[in-house]
This record gives sequence, C-alpha cells and structure tokens, in this order.
Amino acid sequence: MYKIPANTLFIGKNLVFVPECPSTNTLAAEISHQSPVKDGTVVITDSQTAGRGQRGNTWETTPGLNLTFSIVLKPGFLALTKQFFLNIVASLALKDYLMREVPGAVYIKWPNDILVHDKKISGILIENQVQGSSLVTAIIGIGFNLNQKNFSNLARATSLAMVTGKDYDRHREVELILEYVESRYLQLRRGNTDGLMSEYLASLYRRNEKHWYRSEGRLFEGIIRDLDEIGNLRVEENGMVRSYGVKEIEFVDQ
Ligand code: BTN
Repeated sequence: MYKIPANTLFIGKNLVFVPECPSTNTLAAEISHQSPVKDGTVVITDSQTAGRGQRGNTWETTPGLNLTFSIVLKPGFLALTKQFFLNIVASLALKDYLMREVPGAVYIKWPNDILVHDKKISGILIENQVQGSSLVTAIIGIGFNLNQKNFSNLARATSLAMVTGKDYDRHREVELILEYVESRYLQLRRGNTDGLMSEYLASLYRRNEKHWYRSEGRLFEGIIRDLDEIGNLRVEENGMVRSYGVKEIEFVDQ
C-alpha cells in the first residue's frame, strides 16, 4: 500500500488511493470541487484507464508497473503570470529524483517532458483552477515510467527499469518523488524564482543548439535560447528571437 510520506511537511499527508480510475487529474478535480481539499493532497492509482496528456493527447501506461498520480496544491501566493513556475517546480523535482540514479543523462524538454538519454520517461499535466485573478488550485499530474519494459514506441519512450536494469518498489519511489516536489515547491514559496529559472534553463533539452521545429505548418531551423516572462519558449531563427506558446511550436526529430 502507498504510505503517507514520512519526510514531507504537507504533500501526501492526505493520500487518496483508488485501485483504478480513468484519470487521477480528473478524480483530483472532482474531489476538490465536492469539498475543500487539503493543500498537498495526493490522488494515486495503480490502473489509470483514460490518462490524459498535454495538447489533448492520451497517456498510456501498463497497470501496476508505473506511477500515475496527481498532487493538489493551493498556490494562492503565486501571481497568475507566474503559473509556469509550477511546471518548473514539477520538472526540476523529477530531474532531482532521477539524478540519483542516472546522473548526467536527464533533460527537460519544454514545457515539461522529462527525458533520459533523449527518450521520454515522464510526462506532467498541470491543470489550474483560477478564480478572478488568483490561482486557487493547481493539479499537478505526473505519469512516470518506472518498471515497464515494453513500449509501443521504443524509439521515444523509456523507463527507469530499462535505463538502470533494476526493479523498483512503486510505493517507495512515489514517496521519494513527493519529497522532491515539496522541496522545489517550498523553494517557489520562498520566492526563489530566479534560482528555479536558472536551474530549469541549465537542464533544457536542445538549448543553444540548432535543430528543426515546426510552427503554423512551416519547418524551420532554430536555436532555443530561454523562456520569456510567462514561460513561452524563445527560439532564435536567423538572428531574430521569437516567443512560442505550447500550441505554437513543435519539436521535429531529424
Ligand atoms: C504528457 O506528457 O502529455 C503529460 C502526461 C501526464 C500523465 C499524468 S498520469 C497522472 C495524471 N492523470 C492524467 O490523466 N494525466 C496525468
């Protein structure tokens, strides 16, 4: 069974486990609409049957092998214009967690895919509930490939077990990830956005390298430089830098 993490202050202290559900993000949203939910509540399942990903994609996972969970946060202190820092918090936490096992091989593909040796090991879906001009609730959904060894797209997906050759105890690993998320979230709560941003940029996949991208149907060679103040990706093309939102640019593999 999943245990309440011993080393966190509030994340995971309220843990909701269901053996199966369509999506932990959806369930977390339902729970938080029904009644006030505690900051740091975690909703976790062993079998997610209709997992949702970014850009309307699905998140497929073999039941019982991987991690699928959502963390409910109440980031009332965070200006709406700084929402992107939640992506940074979650991405850096997963990177911190992975660095113990696979140092040197972990990158963050903007906005928040976690790659090991250029293959995706984890995806994050953040869904915010906004009231007026404040962020009332943020649901941070994490799908992490832990013990799965077969993927329909082996060229692009991997798992921790595939990278290290070990098998992992899901209950222990989720506790560790929650500790890293809390630690990065507390860094945000202390207002250390500069520190978070510079660590995120230092881990950014394809940064300062020339690669192919597609935007509005046009293929172009560009160089990722950094992010703008709302978290859009700044890409240089022929000496000019332009910002792109999540739906405005696609990474193209050569
Ligand atoms: C992506 O890479 O597109 C994001 C995938 C996010 C998947 C997780 S699994 C737990 C949570 N519940 C969902 O339905 N999605 C997220």
